[in-house]
Amino acid sequence: MAILDDIMFYMSIESMQFKKFSEDKENEKYLANEVYEENLCKLAERIFIDENHIGDGNTADVFTIPEMTNVCCKKLNGNVNPINSLEEEAKFLEEVGAFSDKVIIPTPVVAIEVKKHVKKRNLRGEIVQASIRENALLMKEIDGVSIEDLLEGRVENPLEFLSNFNADVFFADLGDFIDKMHQESIHHRDLHPGNIMIERGTMKPVVIDFGHAAKNHGDENIYQHNVYSRGPSGRMREITETFITDKQSLVNAKQKILEEIKILTR
Ligand SMILES: Nc1ncnc2c1ncn2[C@@H]1O[C@H](COP(=O)(O)OP(=O)(O)O)[C@@H](O)[C@H]1O
Ligand SMILES: [Mg+2]
Repeated sequence: MAILDDIMFYMSIESMQFKKFSEDKENEKYLANEVYEENLCKLAERIFIDENHIGDGNTADVFTIPEMTNVCCKKLNGNVNPINSLEEEAKFLEEVGAFSDKVIIPTPVVAIEVKKHVKKRNLRGEIVQASIRENALLMKEIDGVSIEDLLEGRVENPLEFLSNFNADVFFADLGDFIDKMHQESIHHRDLHPGNIMIERGTMKPVVIDFGHAAKNHGDENIYQHNVYSRGPSGRMREITETFITDKQSLVNAKQKILEEIKILTR
């Protein structure tokens, strides 16, 4: 039955749109104005049709793009309703990327949106046609590991990786960067250890994943936002979610990594 369903689930791409961000010197040839649409169309077909990469079960899949140099792709999983679209996320990356030399931000390269034609079975088992939109963001790939990967024991030789790591310098630089973002009214709002990476070699902090970031324009409470979900009665209801502040997230991340280093060096 599963095989039959797969055969019936036929897809084609109806249209694609690309938004190029800052120049990417390493991939100039691939992204030159005369050829980029052709190159990106082939790439998008691979990303959106043969999705034979391993997902990490989160809201997004992030995987390397072998056609390009030091570029990875973030693709949202179909059933998530993101706070920021990937294009909005890319705009945040571009803006905050200019704030500091001491903190690395992945440079956005291209945002891709495709409109896909899908034929699938509906709940009654009939074949129906539908159009769906999907997005991906190509950005520079960071050579490093997230603090979460270190805490979860997913890094080989963690002590060797951390041999030049200075937590005070790392978190002071990160703190200055957060201050600068806040001066510019930008709040990341999701700075947990999975979204802070350490660049291999330089040990510089890397901030990723601006999927929850927001700008505040007045004095609204940017750390609270309203979400709607269906309650037990089947009615839509409004719930207020509260984000942990960026500064508090930094304090938590520092404490966790110091504890981990203590355990590793015991
Ligand atoms: N530019 C990048 N370079 C290298 N690894 C990345 C990059 N962006 C994301 N990752 C890896 O992919 C994981 C998930 O990415 P993220 O943007 O945080 O997605 P999600 O919204 O699912 O949390 C990160 O924890 C990190 O390990
Ligand atoms: Mg994340």
